[in-house]
Amino acid sequence: KEKITEFPKDFLWGGATAANQVEGAWQTNGKGLTTAEVVRKADDRRHGSMGDVNEVTLQEAINDNSDEHYPKRRGVDFYHHYKQDIALFAEMGFKVFRLSIAWSRIFPTGLEEEPNESGLAFYDRVFDELEKHHIEPLVTLSHYEMPIELTKRYNGWLGREVIGAFNHYTEVVFKRYKSRVKYWLTFNEINTSAWGFHETGAIDGELSEQEQLQIRYQAVHHQFIASAIATKQLKSITPNAKIGSMLARMQTYPATANPADVQAAQIEDQKNLFYTDVQSRGEYPEYMNRYFADKGIIINMEADDEAILKQYPVDFISFSYYMTNVTSADGVQDGIGNMSLGGRNPYLKESEWGWQIDPIGLRISLNALWDRYRKPLFVVENGLGAVDELTADYKIHDDYRIDYLRLHLEQMKEAIIDGVNLMGYTMWAPLDIISFSTSEMSKRYGLIYVDQDDDGNGSLKRYKKDSFFWYKKVIETNGQTV
Ligand code: BG6
Repeated sequence: KEKITEFPKDFLWGGATAANQVEGAWQTNGKGLTTAEVVRKADDRRHGSMGDVNEVTLQEAINDNSDEHYPKRRGVDFYHHYKQDIALFAEMGFKVFRLSIAWSRIFPTGLEEEPNESGLAFYDRVFDELEKHHIEPLVTLSHYEMPIELTKRYNGWLGREVIGAFNHYTEVVFKRYKSRVKYWLTFNEINTSAWGFHETGAIDGELSEQEQLQIRYQAVHHQFIASAIATKQLKSITPNAKIGSMLARMQTYPATANPADVQAAQIEDQKNLFYTDVQSRGEYPEYMNRYFADKGIIINMEADDEAILKQYPVDFISFSYYMTNVTSADGVQDGIGNMSLGGRNPYLKESEWGWQIDPIGLRISLNALWDRYRKPLFVVENGLGAVDELTADYKIHDDYRIDYLRLHLEQMKEAIIDGVNLMGYTMWAPLDIISFSTSEMSKRYGLIYVDQDDDGNGSLKRYKKDSFFWYKKVIETNGQTV
């Protein structure tokens, strides 16, 4: 067999976003309120604000009709700038653009029988524009948000009823965009999505650890089933389309060579891979039985659940990759970073938000996932959140971002030479957007600068950063120049 030494010819280069972080227009054309739009900007950027919603603040948010405290309501107004933004992506040579559909634009409360036509028409316009520029859409069906009504009524994904509501929505969008979308993802970062308010409601606060785990794994079970049903629908509506799972890959290393640490890290890693194990292999892995028994967790399943999981596994595995963690048997967590769970790794540098930067870990993850599943892989998020400075002549010299991306692309290429089957790479995010965890604007990931501050002031004008020109070159040379 010929040895591969470069990125494949049809490699899908591009960028990724999520509706609630870019679109804005939160009440336009019948759109309903979502879980993302009731979360305030974090007071402390190191800790984020996703967990701060409770019944009182939720009601406050529902009564508040402005976007002053809720930056995800305004995003970066992609809703009205999509033509300009897509033209900029095309200028960089994008082959693919990952976006999510806001469920609440199509079904404002999640409970309607008939879809909202103007919501559907918006994504048609976006797909028109992508087609014009020969950019393939990669669509996430659920990216960290859902209609708030489902949260209030059913505690989000904890309620089995939400499966039906979700699959009503997926069937509608699969049919509508049948000829336009070849690549789909069901749940963004499924391993974290049922771990917070945005998916299971404002119920976590006063519960014991056992109760929280019970809720979260039950909610995830419902997402597994909804994802398998979506796969079944897609296979009958558009047999050639591909659907993937999406994992926040959290490679963890043992803190020392002490076997106890190595074993603790293995268990930690299993808890991360559990999600792709279920979605790819179509069954719950044995190691989880022990974990569930140890923690007193019982997953309520209905008669056909196991069969549907088995029958409709995903076609490919996608994942986000930002950082790695460290695990020790004594359970010490340094609590670094606002989304990092493990301990500090003395060999790695960290971003201003405490995320430990580890390019080699990407090669390790790619090899491990390929070995485990033998299904095509897709890196659908990777990037650096940093504070950027706009110079007087409207330039942004973001060599730190270029370095971050370059080091990761080099390791990706190594993994391809190792023999990993990698479909593509969508960096996070092609333009500055509202941060998921802190709702800040000043945590910028973009290759394109958006003139807006944390309070929503600014012209919303777009400016090309140095990284824009760098990435254009990368794509032009199909990764030969990184
Ligand atoms: C991923 C999410 O976890 O990380 C994105 O899928 C998110 O939605 C990205 O934006 C970066 O996180 P943050 O908190 O820096 O925006």
